[in-house]
Amino acid sequence: MDIGLTNTVREEIRGALSKFLADIYAIYLKTQKFHWNVKGDQFFSLHLMFEKQYGELAEEIDEVAERIQALGFAVEASFSIFKDLTTISEEGNVGSAKEMIELLVQGHEVIVRNGRYLATMAEKHADAATVDMLGRRIGGHEKILWMLRSHL
Ligand SMILES: [Fe+2]
Repeated sequence: MDIGLTNTVREEIRGALSKFLADIYAIYLKTQKFHWNVKGDQFFSLHLMFEKQYGELAEEIDEVAERIQALGFAVEASFSIFKDLTTISEEGNVGSAKEMIELLVQGHEVIVRNGRYLATMAEKHADAATVDMLGRRIGGHEKILWMLRSHL
């Protein structure tokens, strides 16, 4: 495989993308859990907003995984692998809608920070396709963050 990126560089970007994928999977599951369990006077709007958000996250999961393939690697995907790689923590029972939103804000902020770091690394190696994907995806998470914060 010769796409102008050395094997070492492809490995490095793949490693960071795998962590990014695990983070998105973690926030995907968290968002879906909150879609199912949210209660209170904002129930309907939050139930729908969370559904829209996990739909977008599912598309992102596919795009990031396929970028790993395009760089020449099989995509590893299992709960145990994602749990090892993600930096987004799990929580026990969550009571209030406010607490759910705050947890999602924290998670998306982790993703945005990690994504920015990863984009800087990909840019240093002139991996324009990864940079382009991350640019769009970081923007998507920042938009989700705006929507979440607007409910607080
Ligand atoms: Fe549903």
